Amino acid sequence: MTDKELFQAAVKAAENSYSPYSNFRVGAALLTAEGKLYTGCNIENGSYSMTICAERTAIFKAVSEGERNFARIAIAGSGDGDFSKPCYPCGACLQVMSEFDTDSTLSIVLSDGAHKLSDFLPAAFSLDEK
Ligand code: THU
Repeated sequence: MTDKELFQAAVKAAENSYSPYSNFRVGAALLTAEGKLYTGCNIENGSYSMTICAERTAIFKAVSEGERNFARIAIAGSGDGDFSKPCYPCGACLQVMSEFDTDSTLSIVLSDGAHKLSDFLPAAFSLDEK
């Protein structure tokens, strides 16, 4: 699967976004090292802080199915149906990604291309440093 196809899977996943409060749809498409695809969308809640981001939905779906090794994650977000502007992952999602990016090979695919986790989160929290 190309990065472009993975990004399109993220756009498709955003169709299921439950975002009546922000009206901002986000989709994520997570590819395991073995090539299995897990998608996720943002799911909001009337108690706003209970909202979960698309990235964490996809990652938690995959991890709960026994997956641990992830190669790429595409993220697409938009408030108006135009997914061409990059939707950068929030800090909480970056921290969750870092938990499973033990060999620093995860590729984060946005509308503007592929990035490494360290591009956005150069110093992730780790219990190893305590
Ligand atoms: N959101 C995501 O799904 N991923 C991010 O990385 C940042 C924000 C969602 C949460 C909320 O439903 C909406 O975007 C507006 O903040």
